[in-house]
Amino acid sequence: MSNVFGLFAAFLLNLHIVFGIIDKQPEFVQTCKIKTPDFVNCSTHAVQGLFHRFPKGLPEIDLQPLDPLEVPVIKILQGDGPVNVNASLANVTVVGFGKTKVLENFVDAKTHDFYTRLHLPTLRIDGQYVLLGRILVIPIRGHGSCWFEASDLDIFVKSDVDLIKKEDFHFFDVKSCHVKFSIGGLRLYMGNLFDGIKALERSTNEYLNANWRPVAESLNPILSKTIEDIMLEILKKVFDNIPADFFIGDLD
Ligand SMILES: *[C@@H]1O[C@H](CO)[C@@H](O)[C@H](O)[C@H]1NC(C)=O
Ligand SMILES: *[C@@H]1O[C@H](CO)[C@@H](O)[C@H](O)[C@H]1NC(C)=O
Ligand SMILES: *[C@@H]1O[C@H](CO)[C@@H](O)[C@H](O)[C@H]1NC(C)=O
Repeated sequence: MSNVFGLFAAFLLNLHIVFGIIDKQPEFVQTCKIKTPDFVNCSTHAVQGLFHRFPKGLPEIDLQPLDPLEVPVIKILQGDGPVNVNASLANVTVVGFGKTKVLENFVDAKTHDFYTRLHLPTLRIDGQYVLLGRILVIPIRGHGSCWFEASDLDIFVKSDVDLIKKEDFHFFDVKSCHVKFSIGGLRLYMGNLFDGIKALERSTNEYLNANWRPVAESLNPILSKTIEDIMLEILKKVFDNIPADFFIGDLD
């Protein structure tokens, strides 16, 4: 009898560790009611509250700091079109998510998909790049340090979400994210282009900066995909571990 009980307790303990869920209302989560007229305003403020809290990270759910955000490696492979590059970025540091302003957050009461509009004053990416390919009309080859600094980013995210039940709670199961964004400005620098032929490196960087708008447009699909991957990882970490009921108090 006690053996059976012990097994059962071990099973429960195991479940708790496997899910690692936060089972008490966290102080940084503001609860909104989806069936009230104030819902969009309330959830917009609630998500803004998360953006105030998360830049420091949240060890309880294994969420790393978001500002600065460290990404070990980003691989970029894109075939035809205005950008034809094989590139990778390593030891990437992203600065700026901490200043995110949440313009609107809406949760569809039927599908539970999230629609979120964000504004970032600046976003700076530093890393070690390897690049072989073509941006606009120029062939580019190089490896070394680089940085990109975008300003006035408007980001729209649609997250495909299922509502599921686990133990006594509802959870948002985030399936995928779709990101659209535009930027108001871009400055960039790539060091050690063309094996460090300085004149060519300088003129190429000058050309890319002078033509930042078409450069940004041509990089948009690659950057959207990168932001989608990062967003999905963060959203999954948050919503796999914090019950949906703490965010929305009147889920059916
Ligand atoms: C929007 O929500 C915030 C926080 O919940 C509240 O302080 C504010 O009064 C609300 N604004 C409107 C227009 O309802
Ligand atoms: C990334 O950083 C680590 C530790 O500082 C270093 O060993 C490694 O060479 C770096 N990678 C690149 C591609 O620079
Ligand atoms: C990129 O890599 C792919 C596969 O490794 C290769 O087929 C393609 O030719 C490369 N493109 C460039 C521009 O180097």
